[in-house]
Amino acid sequence: MSDKKAGKSTNIVWHNATITRELREKQNGHKGAVLWFTGLSGSGKSTLAHAVEDRLYHMGSRTFVLDGDNVRHGLCSDLGFSDADRTENIRRIGELAKLFLESGSVVLTAFISPFQADREIARNVTPHGDFYEIFCDASLDVCEKRDVKGLYAKARAGEIPHFTGISSPYEAPQSPELVVDTGEQSLEKCVDQVIELLAQRGVVETYKGPAAVA
Ligand code: ADX
Repeated sequence: MSDKKAGKSTNIVWHNATITRELREKQNGHKGAVLWFTGLSGSGKSTLAHAVEDRLYHMGSRTFVLDGDNVRHGLCSDLGFSDADRTENIRRIGELAKLFLESGSVVLTAFISPFQADREIARNVTPHGDFYEIFCDASLDVCEKRDVKGLYAKARAGEIPHFTGISSPYEAPQSPELVVDTGEQSLEKCVDQVIELLAQRGVVETYKGPAAVA
């Protein structure tokens, strides 16, 4: 086993918290969860994650969004877009999301996370049932037409190597908890779908519809 797989830290002992996740959740009045938004660049992951967060905030929930572009400015600024670097990016985010989950928060992650195996790793570090893979299903055609950041044009011109959907693959989720049609459906409808799922699974207690929480 490589150093990395075995873990390089030795002589470390886990310290159990006295204020547990359960106590924090009780104080928060809702359960913690990891909402893992995945999809192509421009598919609306960040927009949807922030809109869901906005709704949850107004319902009184504790939330936090981890966003690909932002995290790559700090925690993951040493990583690029090779397959190995994306794997490491997603591994770190999986661990970070798990810490936020321990704080009793609903954590929303918005990363392309193109590889099924990497998303599985993130799922598997999360306690069973707390990980919600949400596929932002907008086609390459739609994302490329939007081209909000102008990156698809640059990628087509050969100016950005390993660009997801153009010169690097995107593996669509095989059995996500939710598929949202961020290519065609309104943002409001997509938010409703996510909140309904959380209500069904008992993460947030009741969902009375957008009018009740506006
Ligand atoms: S991931 O593949 O490792 O999950 P992540 O979500 O963190 O990617 O970052 C994606 C964002 O980085 C895109 O939305 C885009 O703004 C920017 N980006 C820069 N280069 C690339 C690239 N080669 N492929 C995809 N996105 C890129």
